[in-house]
Amino acid sequence: MTDSEDRRGGDGSPWLTIDVDLGERGYPVRIGAGIRHTLPEVIAAIGARRVAVVSARPAEWTPDPGVDALRVEARDGERGKSLAWVEELCGRFAEFGLTRSDAVVSCGGGTTTDAVGLAAALYHRGVPVVHLPTSLLAQVDASVGGKTAVNLPQGKNLVGAYWQPRAVLCDTDYLTTLPERERVNGYGEIARCHFIGAGDLRGLSTARQIAASVARKAQIVSLDERDTGLRHLLNYGHTLGHALERATDFALRHGEAVAVGTVFAGRLAGALGRIGPERVAEHLDVVRHYGLPTGLPAGVTTGELVSLARLDKKATDGLTFVLDGPDGAELVAGVPEETVSAVLDAMPRQSRAGASAR
Ligand SMILES: NC(=O)c1ccc[n+]([C@@H]2O[C@H](COP(=O)([O-])OP(=O)(O)OC[C@H]3O[C@@H](n4cnc5c(N)ncnc54)[C@H](O)[C@@H]3O)[C@@H](O)[C@H]2O)c1
Ligand SMILES: [Zn+2]
Repeated sequence: MTDSEDRRGGDGSPWLTIDVDLGERGYPVRIGAGIRHTLPEVIAAIGARRVAVVSARPAEWTPDPGVDALRVEARDGERGKSLAWVEELCGRFAEFGLTRSDAVVSCGGGTTTDAVGLAAALYHRGVPVVHLPTSLLAQVDASVGGKTAVNLPQGKNLVGAYWQPRAVLCDTDYLTTLPERERVNGYGEIARCHFIGAGDLRGLSTARQIAASVARKAQIVSLDERDTGLRHLLNYGHTLGHALERATDFALRHGEAVAVGTVFAGRLAGALGRIGPERVAEHLDVVRHYGLPTGLPAGVTTGELVSLARLDKKATDGLTFVLDGPDGAELVAGVPEETVSAVLDAMPRQSRAGASAR
């Protein structure tokens, strides 16, 4: 991580840069207040003469790219994350006359960066894309690492491509308008970083928490860009997290579900003798510190969660979880169902899914 002391954000704090080291596909992730205004420099460095700016934020929050621009209004949300939207975007790019040497800019939550990223990957078999993530979750996770996708009626993120952006600008000013629940949601991904090698981020400024989470993701992605091994670590807390999202019909936000999944992962690692009681308790402390839910929502059964956990994409050999241990977190396959069920049965219960499940 480098602090660019020469450049300071509107709040007086330095802008931070994390380099995603992927050789010629490498790129910077820049973090700080007001950093969206450096977009013209980024576009100039790419050499694009025209840009399509697809933004889910109001016009006053969508920065000028400094060159001839097509502005496309987008809407964040899973429903818009569709192939139909990707087709429409590509059509708009074509009408505008966007060429392979031009660029696309996404500005919005993770649903927008994912869909626009896929459109950029497909249009002319790939045009440069710059992401301006505006939710905390998109800044710490969705916009970094090159995974793009849209949903099908059959399931989430079923159609996608790996397409690394040319730069990511995480402007912390965007977070000032973020609803509280979305802010807390983003902390679900930051909390899990505590257990996958990012260290204790509690007490740091938001910009430094984002930077540290991005730095850890960048490190993992640079070693396993195509998700064949190490990238599993990023799924800490996610096996149960995904099961909880589905069991609550997505009433629980992703980061909230991952938070509960993280508490569970700590308890499961404890039950398997991989970590001691203090480390188990640390899971609860960290998740609670960020104001995230720690218990299972009411109405979901152990049996249902175990069945859903079996569907996890990592589960090639029985129930599979990323679990902490003496050598840090690792993928653990073939976890006995009785242990998983017993740990789930012992988890605290909350009264209402997604609401005051804190
Ligand atoms: N590609 C990846 O590696 C990756 C990783 C994690 C998540 N994702 C994807 O990211 C998506 C979730 O992202 P998300 O949580 O940002 O969802 P989202 O895009 O739906 O945004 C969440 C909510 O926050 C609002 N919002 C966003 N920025 C705002 C701002 N600055 N001010 C006020 N409101 C704002 C949006 O309008 C929306 O209501 C999922 O589709 C998930 O699959 C992708
Ligand atoms: Zn996640």
